[in-house]
Amino acid sequence: MSQTLLHVSNIAHSFDYELFANINLDVNEKESIAIVGRSGSGKSTLLHIFSTFIKPNVGEVTLLNQNIYNLSEDKLENLRRYDLGIIFQSHYLFKGMTTLMNVEIATLLSNESIDETLLEHLEIKELMQQKIGELSGGQQQRVSIARVLSKKPKIIFADEPTGNLDKETAKLVMKVLLEYIEKENAALILVTHDREMAALCDQSFLLEQKELKELV
Ligand SMILES: Nc1ncnc2c1ncn2[C@@H]1O[C@H](COP(=O)(O)OP(=O)(O)O)[C@@H](O)[C@H]1O
Ligand SMILES: [Mg+2]
Repeated sequence: MSQTLLHVSNIAHSFDYELFANINLDVNEKESIAIVGRSGSGKSTLLHIFSTFIKPNVGEVTLLNQNIYNLSEDKLENLRRYDLGIIFQSHYLFKGMTTLMNVEIATLLSNESIDETLLEHLEIKELMQQKIGELSGGQQQRVSIARVLSKKPKIIFADEPTGNLDKETAKLVMKVLLEYIEKENAALILVTHDREMAALCDQSFLLEQKELKELV
């Protein structure tokens, strides 16, 4: 039986006003889901809640069968380090270091080794000796994705990972992400405004009028 990696029950959250309420979601191994919606609808907030960075006003988040609000700081830190793959738009690469060093840091921290095939698939293998500052925005984006996947996370949270990429490169990145979750029994939760990228996932949801509705 396939394991549920993310279980979300009855989430509500407000900043200045209520963004959403009664959000429920389950994502299993090998599953990819996309969340689309207008700018300001709360997609990034939802992703930050799912990935432990914001505690919602109401509701529970369970990651790998652990209620994250019952975990000690240490356990939460380990969960983030070993099991979660966070791809947000601003990538935190070390600009003065080479591509190789940037990827190595991630693998060292998570006791993994560099996956050469992944670097080939992302078409960044030739860039290993170059400094990050010399790469284009799209190349940097792919290096940051390589860095996240090199940790071998069980759940990938990606906020507009293809937002700065041309269509061909965006499709390449989606292919790599989807192949990764299939191979590693992982899950992908993707936030995007691009319906074409969303359609590549198993299920798509629209965040609108405080609700998360499945698109069919
Ligand atoms: N940390 C915060 N403090 C106050 N308001 C916030 C915070 N984060 C987001 N918001 C507000 O919540 C709304 C939804 O933001 P966001 O989740 O980023 O939407 P989306 O990703 O769909 O564009 C926006 O109006 C934004 O200004
Ligand atoms: Mg956003």
